[in-house]
Amino acid sequence: MTDTLAARHDFAIALAREAGALALDLRRRLGALEAKNPMDYATKADHDVEALIRERIGERFGDAVIGEEDGGVAADLVWVVDPIDGTVNYIHGTPRWCVSIALVAGGEIESGVINAPDEGRLFTARRGGGAFLNGAPAQVSNLRHGASPVVEIGWSPRRPIELYGTLIRRLIGDGIEFRRLGSGALGAADTASGLNDGYVELHINAWDILAGMILVREAGGWTSDFLAGDGLTKGNPIIVCTPEIVDRISAATAEPQ
Ligand code: IPD
Repeated sequence: MTDTLAARHDFAIALAREAGALALDLRRRLGALEAKNPMDYATKADHDVEALIRERIGERFGDAVIGEEDGGVAADLVWVVDPIDGTVNYIHGTPRWCVSIALVAGGEIESGVINAPDEGRLFTARRGGGAFLNGAPAQVSNLRHGASPVVEIGWSPRRPIELYGTLIRRLIGDGIEFRRLGSGALGAADTASGLNDGYVELHINAWDILAGMILVREAGGWTSDFLAGDGLTKGNPIIVCTPEIVDRISAATAEPQ
């Protein structure tokens, strides 16, 4: 099994590069947008890049795939992919978007690859093998900067906006700065590389976060139990952070009484 996981990890890195190159090329002719709901879009590129990823995985391994655009069902070994995470940034022409590919086997996230080609950043992590940014070891901040923590908050209409108001109020009340930059995968990848101190969202889907979770774990960070219950297929809340602020972020995200 270890050999087959290693082969899949190497394959995922090459695939994320190929998918990222296709997405970059398609960005030059964006075409019509599809509104999945009033603030959630898909482009032709989201569909074409996911189709490429599914085709390549099918040809090489025949494994199960769960993807943002075409769904899929859980399996003991399953790839979980977001062809373009940060689609709104992609549409607007800002570089903060990525291809996110994770491999889950026996309920464990084994590999995660996040390719942000417009930013020139490629993040890779394998369970027990460390986390890397462009080939150099990545490590969470451990608050070494000595300033107030900065946490990125993701948001979607899947949870009531009032809960996000409460979360922001609590974080600021506790001296924690917040950001919203539009890609859950890259928010977590930034945690893994010490560019923020954590990423939080009250509901996120597996394709947005699994690759980022293994990056954070392998970079010395903490992650909440996202795969509990139906997390793989229905999503869950997520916290990933440098270990020093687990209690503070957990308190800020607790359901209001
Ligand atoms: C979204 C982004 C966003 C997060 C949302 C996701 P998409 O994914 O990751 O930052 O807050 O929950 O749905 O639509 O850009 O792939």
